[in-house]
Amino acid sequence: MSANAETKALTPSDIASRKGKTPLVCLTAYTTPMARLVDAHCDIALVGDSVGMVLHGLSSTLGVTLDMMSLHGKAVRRGLERALMVVDMPFGSYEESPEQAFRNAARLMTETGCAAVKLEGGERMAATIGFLAARGVPVMAHVGLTPQAVNTLGGYHVQGRGGDAKRVMRDAAATAEAGAFAVVLEKVPEALARRITAEIAIPTIGIGASAACDGQILVVDDVLGMFTSFRPKFIKRYAELGEQVEAAIAAYARDVRERRFPGAEHVFGDAPKGIKGGEAA
Ligand code: KIV
Repeated sequence: MSANAETKALTPSDIASRKGKTPLVCLTAYTTPMARLVDAHCDIALVGDSVGMVLHGLSSTLGVTLDMMSLHGKAVRRGLERALMVVDMPFGSYEESPEQAFRNAARLMTETGCAAVKLEGGERMAATIGFLAARGVPVMAHVGLTPQAVNTLGGYHVQGRGGDAKRVMRDAAATAEAGAFAVVLEKVPEALARRITAEIAIPTIGIGASAACDGQILVVDDVLGMFTSFRPKFIKRYAELGEQVEAAIAAYARDVRERRFPGAEHVFGDAPKGIKGGEAA
């Protein structure tokens, strides 16, 4: 499948209308070439703040800035024709007030051309989601494990086990009622994901939340197996590119050191005849 000039880009309402239908396919993208590959097969391309950990080597998403999201958002925009582009609002760019959230969401939309933003939080962010949605900013919400809250959650654990399930349910319901067009459910038990998906009116997009959700999202580098040592339970690796890239770089290094690269087929002919007697001499 490949998009062409007549391809119509999906809108937040198209995504919302897929509730309970064919599962939504979503991946992250941070660069133009990856966005092109994702666009051919996915409904949503998320410029996730995971970019900070995946491409910039940060130890959490907390150090990600609006400038970083804007730069990667612009790059992804150039690679998309059909998929809905959603850009993450980074930590500190929206929690202070609905007005702060609107100012920064508007910046991301105008600078990157994205059609929607994603922010983390349920009940506590409901007023902000409503404020944005009423002012032309479609919002994808994110509840369950919210990585920007790693310090208050005490780590990247499964959320909503035991008595905590009610909190996650209230969070998901609050985002739907506030006007989000979809909600990411991260790292919650399957039974809870099933219940939330049945009870709320907007699509649930799962990551570590089972096939009971209305769609799935993963970090594209995880799907491609770019990180040899990072293997969480909820990720299925569809390739082992990390190993392949390592082997390719090692082979290149060997060839250069042993003067096997460049070979005859990689060099240009016609050495400068008479260079000693000519102008170049
Ligand atoms: O930042 C991110 O990539 C995300 C998802 C994987 C849901 O929030």
